[in-house]
Amino acid sequence: MAITPVMGGHEPGAVERAAALLRAGQLVAFPTETVYGLGANAFDAAAVAKIFEAKERPPDNPLIVHVADIAGARAVAAAFPPLAERAAAALWPGSLTMVLPRGPKVPDIVAAGGPTVAVRVPAHPVAWVLLRVFGRPIAAPSANLSGRPSPTQASHVLADLDGRVALILDSGPTSVGLESTVVDMTRPRPLLLRRGGVTIERLRQVLGPVDVLDEQDPKAVLRSPGLRHRHYAPKAMVELVAEGEGEAAAARAIAAGQKVALIVRRTVSSPALVRKLANTPEGFARALFTTLRELDELDVERIVIESLPETGLGAAIMDRLRRAAQG
Ligand code: TXA
Ligand code: MG
Repeated sequence: MAITPVMGGHEPGAVERAAALLRAGQLVAFPTETVYGLGANAFDAAAVAKIFEAKERPPDNPLIVHVADIAGARAVAAAFPPLAERAAAALWPGSLTMVLPRGPKVPDIVAAGGPTVAVRVPAHPVAWVLLRVFGRPIAAPSANLSGRPSPTQASHVLADLDGRVALILDSGPTSVGLESTVVDMTRPRPLLLRRGGVTIERLRQVLGPVDVLDEQDPKAVLRSPGLRHRHYAPKAMVELVAEGEGEAAAARAIAAGQKVALIVRRTVSSPALVRKLANTPEGFARALFTTLRELDELDVERIVIESLPETGLGAAIMDRLRRAAQG
């Protein structure tokens, strides 16, 4: 039996109740178009501390501050450079998070003590109404236990955080299924820190040249603290193979006595547990984290996944798959 109450995001009174809990310093999980977030009043350091505790999140990993509009973003940033203005006009509300100089109202704990703050205007109607009704910024990481795949359904939040969050607003599966794109806007040329819902092609259309963080650089973690930590991993071992090589890889693992699942985008014949996802990056992204969690529940030991072309959203998907395969 679940301890944490779950209310439909559109149920009468649900958003008002969520806002009241946030005002009381409690945690509320809410839908965004990317993944579900675990929210607290961004100006209340004690409330934000509960996020780190509930998720078992390392304190050196800063949070994204969600705001209702550009005015809200200005209120948490110490500066809003012209390029940020342009990105906001073109891509907000949406799956873009901008790292900006931190404003004085943002407590240390939100920014992990750093000089910058990550800000996003989400595109989900329930998130937006919640931000309006609450009337303040909401600090929120993905609403999973640290190291687990991000939640794309309320049931995922419940599985990870039941009893650790005061309320879950349920609006069904999220439409993007991957986290937001994170871009550092504090430099003369924007720097992509995390691939996500907004593609780099789209970013470059809007902003011109965008650099991509070199994760091999030992100093990369200073700019993107999330890199320090294990991410996106199901419990099963993940093996990433080229398209067309899934059946053979699954057969090898089955011969070695493992319980194996195979994630593909085509029809295959294999004794493994086969999950055929959409052959578009958008459809694949929507189903990916749900599929990984479902296979974990079936106690699969190895998940073989066929690679996707790295264009558009495919690049963000491959980023997550590589991290899962390292886990
Ligand atoms: O789609 C999303 O971004 C979801 C929804 C809920 O908005 N949130 C999310 O949050 O994925 P989280 O905490 O799981 O991932 C945020 C990432 C982390 O990798 C963190 O290191 C990075 O953003 N980040 C946050 N603040 C930062 C900052 N000031 N500088 C650089 N990176 C930052
Ligand atoms: Mg996360």
